[in-house]
Amino acid sequence: MSTERTGLLYEGKSKRVSETTATDRVISQFTDDATAFNGVKYAEIAGNGVMNAQLSAFFMDLLAQNAVKHHLIAVLNDTDQLCERVDVMRVVVVVRNIVAGSFARRNGIEEGQALPVPLVELFVKSDPLDDPLIGHDAAVALGLAQPWELRLATDQALLINQVLRDFWAERDVDLVDVKVEFGRTSNGMPVLVDELLPDGCRLWERGTGRKLDKDVFRRNPGDLAETYREVVRRATGGAP
Ligand SMILES: Nc1ncnc2c1ncn2[C@@H]1O[C@H](COP(=O)(O)OP(=O)(O)OP(=O)(O)O)[C@@H](O)[C@H]1O
Ligand SMILES: [Mg+2]
Repeated sequence: MSTERTGLLYEGKSKRVSETTATDRVISQFTDDATAFNGVKYAEIAGNGVMNAQLSAFFMDLLAQNAVKHHLIAVLNDTDQLCERVDVMRVVVVVRNIVAGSFARRNGIEEGQALPVPLVELFVKSDPLDDPLIGHDAAVALGLAQPWELRLATDQALLINQVLRDFWAERDVDLVDVKVEFGRTSNGMPVLVDELLPDGCRLWERGTGRKLDKDVFRRNPGDLAETYREVVRRATGGAP
C-alpha cells in the first residue's frame, strides 16, 4: 500500500512536513525557500529544493553506511522523502572542528583556528529565542532531554562529524562545523532527523578558504544556487 499525504504537520523555513496515511510516517518536502538569520533574510531560489533533497539523501545514506541511525525511509521523487515520524528533541547538537560563527563571537576570538578535539555545543531549538546556547544540566533540568538521550545524541553527533569530516577531507574541503537534530522514534530511541545540508554546516575549501556553505547566502543570496551546485558536483561527482 502506498503512503499518501494527509494534512500539513509543519511548514518550516526550508521544508513542508506532512502527515500520511501511515501514522508513524511523514513526508518531508524540500522547498525552494532559502532563509538565514532565523528567517530575517529570505529568497526563493529555483532548483534549491531539488538540490537540497538530493544532498540530504546522499549524506543520510553515507551516514547509514557508517552505523548512524536516521529517519529517512525512502526518496519518493526529486523533492519528497518518506521519513519516520518522530518527536523532535528541543535540543540541537553542534560539533565544531574549527573556530567560526557564534563560537568566535561569543568567545572573542578570530575565525579559523583549529580546535584540538571536536567540540560539542548544545542549543535550544526555539525560533522566538533565536536558538540560544544551553548547558547539559540546564537542558536536563528544563526537561528538554534525558541525560541518556543527550549522551546518545552527542555520541552520534561526534560520529556524524567524523564521517563527514573524512568525506570532505578527501575532497580538499574542511568541515568547520555541523549542526544536527535528533528525534525520538516510536520506540523512544533518538535518531538523526530533519536534513543534512550545507545549510547546517560550514565547508571551507582548503588552500583558498572559499566558502561552500550557507555563509555565502548570509552575505550574498545570489551566489547560493551556484555554490550548492558546486557542492553537489564535489559530493556526488555528478551533475546536479
Ligand atoms: N521525521 C520527522 N518527524 C517530525 N518532524 C520532523 C521530522 N524531521 C524534521 N521534522 C521537523 O519539521 C520541521 C522541518 O521544517 P524546517 O527544517 O523547514 O523547519 P525550520 O523552519 O528550519 O524550523 P526549525 O528551526 O524548527 O528547524 C522542523 O521543525 C523539524 O524539526
Ligand atoms: Mg530546519
